[in-house]
Amino acid sequence: MSGSDKTRDLAGQRVLVCVGGGIAAYKALELVRRLRDAGAEVQVAMTAGAQQFVTPLSFQALSGQPTRTTLWDGAAEQAMGHIELARWADRVVIAPATADLMARLAHGLADDLVATLCLATTAPILIAPAMNHRMWQHPATRANLATLRERGIQVVGPNDGPLAEGESGPGRLAEPEEIVAALSGATLRAATVPQDLAGLNVVVSAGPTYEDLDPVRYLGNRSSGKMGFAVAASAARRGASVTLIAGPVQLATPTGVARVDVRSAAQMHRAVFAALPADIYIGAAAVADYTPREPAANKIKKSSESLALDLVRTPDILAEVAAQTQALKLVVGFAAETNNVAEYARRKLEAKRLDMIVANRVGIADGGFESDQNAMTAYWKDGERSFASAPKTQLADELIDLIVERLNA
Ligand code: PMT
Repeated sequence: MSGSDKTRDLAGQRVLVCVGGGIAAYKALELVRRLRDAGAEVQVAMTAGAQQFVTPLSFQALSGQPTRTTLWDGAAEQAMGHIELARWADRVVIAPATADLMARLAHGLADDLVATLCLATTAPILIAPAMNHRMWQHPATRANLATLRERGIQVVGPNDGPLAEGESGPGRLAEPEEIVAALSGATLRAATVPQDLAGLNVVVSAGPTYEDLDPVRYLGNRSSGKMGFAVAASAARRGASVTLIAGPVQLATPTGVARVDVRSAAQMHRAVFAALPADIYIGAAAVADYTPREPAANKIKKSSESLALDLVRTPDILAEVAAQTQALKLVVGFAAETNNVAEYARRKLEAKRLDMIVANRVGIADGGFESDQNAMTAYWKDGERSFASAPKTQLADELIDLIVERLNA
């Protein structure tokens, strides 16, 4: 799709932009400009917090319409009452959606103009969250996010990266062009992508783990994270509330996914269990099976002809998740094998008491680790399904189809 095709369906649309009170409010100015460039008619409503960061006048200049700031402005209400404004909108976009605003929307509050408009509108709502990464990952925000998704609210971002307060993580407002693209595709996607995971919490692990030998060396593996990231993205598109526990990889965070970065198997173990309870766990990470008993405090010096490493087993995250007393609806493992793929995969299915295992051959060109392509076979107690070689993004969608089938089986 070309850029102009992407935004074509915004031409003539009436978009209500609601601005929340976060530092990212300044990016909403650019969003308004881009929406108008795409041919949309735009009106802006701001929370009290948003007005601490950007002035209503700036939005007025860009939207060409008076900016609405309060329920209690008699003159503005006379020109267009807030219920009329809620009815006027073909689409509503909230950017930035702060943790507070998400909580108020999830609980149906009508304690200011923006919350009231969102409650009164029947137009599709898209939110672009932005906040500190710990606030984004807090169980309260996760629960509010799940509620909002369940009600059909579309979520774009947050993106991963440096945050205003000097920290880094998932919490950055999606870029204005991403929001415009998501908004223009909203109707199309809602019509074509079934929201069959709405209301479900999904935890996905992806990428390798690095086990430090000393301050400069580690034991790692060739997982790029591509398969796990594609699965997380696909689950989020289908409406799930997704937490992605990512080993050390350089991939962009999929839209709408909460990402937790880890390095070692022990850290991944902690992060996965911190993300539970969940409805579905998908272990696509290539977790180290062994880690140094004691990483050396200083660089190991070259002294003898050979070097023996003292390694100990890491916790089997997948098996422990499957053994949870607070049972998940579905636990899915991956198996990376170089030979006897079916036999070893079925053994893991049983030994780790999984609902499903997805086996792929590694150590080959055009598949397994690193490649953008893969081929795989899923096994469950009394069935199996093969997926022919295809891009990992496509396989992820097909795997989510199968997961939905197995959930409903
Ligand atoms: O990341 P890519 O480059 O896209 O490559 C994708 C992939 C090949 C890594 C992926 O498709 C895959 O196969 N992942 C699982 C790799 C693996 O570690 O397989 P395994 O057979 O060693 O482990 C079996 C399962 O147990 C996996 O779900 C693994 O996440 C889990 N496990 C393993 C060890 C451990 N200590 N804890 C675990 O949870």
